[in-house]
Amino acid sequence: MSRELSPTDTAKYAASRRAVGFVEDGMRVGLGTGSTAAFMVRCLGARVRDEGLKIRGVPTSSRTAALAREVGIEVVSLDDAGWLDLTIDGADEVDANLTLIKGGGGAHLQEKVVASASDHMIVITDAAKQVATLGAFPLPVEVLGFGLRSTQKLIAATLADMDVLGHEITLRMAGDAPYITDEGNHILDLHLQRIGDPAQLSGALNQIAGVVENGLFIDICDRVIIGHEDGRVITR
Ligand code: 5RP
Repeated sequence: MSRELSPTDTAKYAASRRAVGFVEDGMRVGLGTGSTAAFMVRCLGARVRDEGLKIRGVPTSSRTAALAREVGIEVVSLDDAGWLDLTIDGADEVDANLTLIKGGGGAHLQEKVVASASDHMIVITDAAKQVATLGAFPLPVEVLGFGLRSTQKLIAATLADMDVLGHEITLRMAGDAPYITDEGNHILDLHLQRIGDPAQLSGALNQIAGVVENGLFIDICDRVIIGHEDGRVITR
C-alpha cells in the first residue's frame, strides 16, 4: 500500500493480506462488507492483476460489488456461482467459539446467506474485536419496514421472556432517515451489553414475524485471522 496507514488500518490490512493467501486459482469467493473486507477486496484485486489469479467473486453488498469491479475481480451472483469455496469477511465481535456479531455495516443478511453457502468462512479482524462474551456491540436485527414498531415490541417481549433486562432497541438511521439495507429492509440495533446464550437468542429472534435475520453467526466461521497494529497476524 502506498499511503501511510493508521495503526488500526495496518492491523486490518495485515489480516487481509494473510487471508487472501488462502484463495486459489479457480475459486468462487464470497466477498464481505465493511472497512476490513474492503482491504481484503483490494488485496484480492492486486492478486488478480499481478498474478493473473482467476476467481469469481460473490459480493455481500452493493458497496462491495462496486469495489470488486473497480479492482478487476469478476463479479457473479450467488446463484450463478452455485456454491462457494471460501468467504472472507470482517466482524464486529468474535468470541472463543468463533461465534460472531456482524451487521455493523448493515449487510449481515446477505453476508449470512453467502457465508452459509460456502465451504469455509474466514473472518478478518483487528485485535479489538476479540471478546470473552458477545454483546457489548449492539446486535443488528434486520426487520421488514412493514409493521416495524410491532416487530420491535415483539422483540422487546421476547427479550423480557428470556430475562434479558435493561436493554434498549434503536432504529438504525442514515442521517435523518431510517437506514435501508440492500434488501430494502430496516435494522433494529439491540443494546444488550451481554449475550449469555447466542444460539437461544438467535433462534428466538428469528422466530418473530417481521424479523428477517439477526447478526449472530453461529457455527459458520471456521477460521479467524487477527491483525495487530504492528503488522503481526495471529490465526485461530
Ligand atoms: C457489515 C459487517 C462488517 O463485517 C462488520 O461491521 C465489521 O466492519 P469493519 O470491518 O468496518 O469494522 O458485518 O455488515
